[in-house]
Amino acid sequence: MKNIGVLISGGGSNLQAIIDACESGILKGLARVAVVVSNRADAYGLERAEKHKIPAFFFNPRDFNANSAYCSMISGELRKHKVDIVCLAGYMSLIDPCLLNDFKNKIINIHPALLPKYGGKGMYGHHVHKAVIAAGESESGVTVHWVNEVYDSGEIILQRKVPVLINDTPEELAARVLAVEHIAYPEAILKILKQG
Ligand code: GRF
Repeated sequence: MKNIGVLISGGGSNLQAIIDACESGILKGLARVAVVVSNRADAYGLERAEKHKIPAFFFNPRDFNANSAYCSMISGELRKHKVDIVCLAGYMSLIDPCLLNDFKNKIINIHPALLPKYGGKGMYGHHVHKAVIAAGESESGVTVHWVNEVYDSGEIILQRKVPVLINDTPEELAARVLAVEHIAYPEAILKILKQG
């Protein structure tokens, strides 16, 4: 049984999808969510974790005077819970090199577009979907990828496509993409578990 640590900043619907996959879906018997860490106090994902009796922590970046000190705190918590894989699920922060070093080749992220397009600094949330629509793309999608020092540039684990419909609003496209994220994230975790 592999231990997953999930880092969040918000609603945590991807966290929920991973929890559900571990409890009763494609990850059942293979993985469990061992710990959840948020960098925002009001992240609803913290409540989701608590409902499933998963240890969940909020660490305020402002309480730490250096990124590395903040990172050590998170890293320590992940280690305490013997985390094998770290999933970023709506975690709105660049990952500190110290965390990358402590969890080498163990951190993955989900991005709501078909990378390498529509990725990088500033490309998050509605900015992504607005840009996809403005460019007149006929399809968008989901990318799960390994995390390195540069936003959205690590090796791709899995991608899933969704159509962009005529007259789509960013909200409509976001909802279509998010529904696929919830399937794709557990699939990507299963894929890397199978690869050993
Ligand atoms: C998702 O669209 C994810 O791709 C992006 O942030 C959003 C998080 O949603 N990185 P949630 O917090 O998992 O509901």
